[in-house]
Order: sequence, then structure tokens, then C-alpha cells
Amino acid sequence: MTLWIDCDPGIDDAIALLLALAAPELDLQGISTVAGNVPVTLTAANGLRILELAGYADVPLYAGCPVPLCRSPIFAADIHGEDGLGGVDLPPPQTQVNPLFGVTALIHALRQSPTPMTIATLGPLTNLAMALIQDPSLSQRIEKLVIMGGALGQGNITTAAEFNFYADPHAAQVVFDRVEAYAIPTTLIGLDLTHQVIATPAYQQRIAALNSPVSRAVVQMLATYAQTPEALERKFAGPPLHDPCVIAYLLQPQLFQTRSAQITIETQSSLTLGRSVIEWTIGPSPLQVATEIKVEGFFDLLITALQTCPA
Ligand code: BDR
Ligand code: CA
Repeated sequence: MTLWIDCDPGIDDAIALLLALAAPELDLQGISTVAGNVPVTLTAANGLRILELAGYADVPLYAGCPVPLCRSPIFAADIHGEDGLGGVDLPPPQTQVNPLFGVTALIHALRQSPTPMTIATLGPLTNLAMALIQDPSLSQRIEKLVIMGGALGQGNITTAAEFNFYADPHAAQVVFDRVEAYAIPTTLIGLDLTHQVIATPAYQQRIAALNSPVSRAVVQMLATYAQTPEALERKFAGPPLHDPCVIAYLLQPQLFQTRSAQITIETQSSLTLGRSVIEWTIGPSPLQVATEIKVEGFFDLLITALQTCPA
């Protein structure tokens, strides 16, 4: 599968990248980063740090939008740490961010790919929205879109909203408008799904037992992530692994249950900004919302992948 990842590393983004890099069935064409968990210069540097850790420094990485489409930027350093990776003991990157603007790189990749490309988004949707605004015909070059964002129930940045959609609600609405207008096959992985995927101490011990540079970095990052308000307030037995669920869905969709839906993002009300309003639909729909996951299968997939990272 030809794949592009747009992300804002971010601890869970970093783990998602490791899962994707270890999968031979994913032909990763490039990575764009966006302002989200931390500013875009840091999300780009963190992407490089993870590529270098995993031994894939040859995958091109581009920095995209430094600010959302309309609203002022927000960050999540309280969750991911000032550096965005929970202060993990990894050196600054030795390699360089590709000088091409992330949105331009994504547009080129979609245009030049001999077959339609799958896009995985792990952060605010600013880069993808910008690409689809610049060239709406790109919608037809997308094989499949898998998005981490939104919640049917309670949000995690406000009671109403999930972080990625709150950080750029207008971009999310642009993307879902295109999904509906061009029937882009799309799967949404929201909090109702990702809160089922808790990295409990038992799973963290299995990762630690791999005893490699990759596993040590993951364990360190998870230790910070477990102290986040989201995990503590909800009394989770560990941190929820939001973004890796997107990659797991691409690799093993049979682990997931989904349901047809339509979605609208709140962009007007300051009270409920970024809220994802989901309507279940009957019959075929381009949008599927993931509702259930086989958690043991997810961790088997992740831990096997971390074991095969070459570093
Ligand atoms: C999302 O917000 C970010 O903090 C995480 O990286 C994830 O993409 C979860 O709401
Ligand atoms: Ca993210």
C-alpha cells in the first residue's frame, strides 16, 4: 500500500511512526508534519529523531503549516512535554528536514503516484485541507483516508472536543466536505476507539522486555504519557495510544469494527468549537467510524513491530 503520513509528533505519533516503519506492506512515500502537539519546527525535528532511531532516515520528511487555517494555534506541551516527546533521551536529529513545504510535497506525491495513495493523518488536518483547497481534484488521487480525531462522547481538550479537531476545526470541516463531495473512502478513529487501547503496565513490561534502543525510547515516552491529565482524570491504567490505531487499522482492519456515518465539525460556537457531530447512517457511506477494537491483537501487532525495528 502506498502511504503518506501527516502527523504532529507527539508521543503517540512517534509510536505510530515506528509501527508504520516496521511494516513491509506499507510503502511509505513521505511524512509531513504540522503544528499540533508542539510547534511545527519541533514536530518536524521529532519526526526526524524517530526516523533516525528506527534506522529509516532515508524516508523524506517535510514541515507543513505552522498555524491552523483560521483559529489561533494551541499546543499540548502539558501532555507531550516541552520537546513533544516527553523529554525522551534521544539526540537532536543529524539529518535535515526536506526544504519543500509539506503541503506542496503532499500535492506532488499525490499527483505523481502511479496509483492512488492512502493518507494517514495523526494531527490537526491543516496540511490536508490546504492541499485539497489548492487542488480539489486531488480527492480522486486518494485511495483511502484514515484520520485520528473526534469523539462521539466526551472530548479530551474540552468536554466537547478532541484535540486534533479542536486545534483546527475549519481544516477538519474542509476535509470532511471533500470526503462527502468526492466519496473518498475514509475511516475515522476517534476517542471512543482509542480509549479502549490503554498501554497498561503489563503491555509496557512486554515492550520493555524487548530491551532495544527502540523499546527503551517507547517505554520512556509512555512513562511521561501516563501522567497526562487525560489518563489521570479518567483513571486509565496507562496512556491511551491514539495515533498507532490509525496504522493498526491499515495493517489489520479485521481487528476493528466500524459503522457508516456522516460527520459535521462545529466551527462557529466558541462553547463547543471542534465538536464532531456524528450521525449514524444506514447503507453505504464513504465515512466509517471505528467503534470497537480487539485490544490484545493490537498490542501483539505493535510489540512484534517494535521487535523488528532494525535499531
Ligand atoms: C490526539 O491529540 C494528540 O495530542 C495526539 O497525538 C493524538 O493525535 C488525541 O486526541
Ligand atoms: Ca497526533
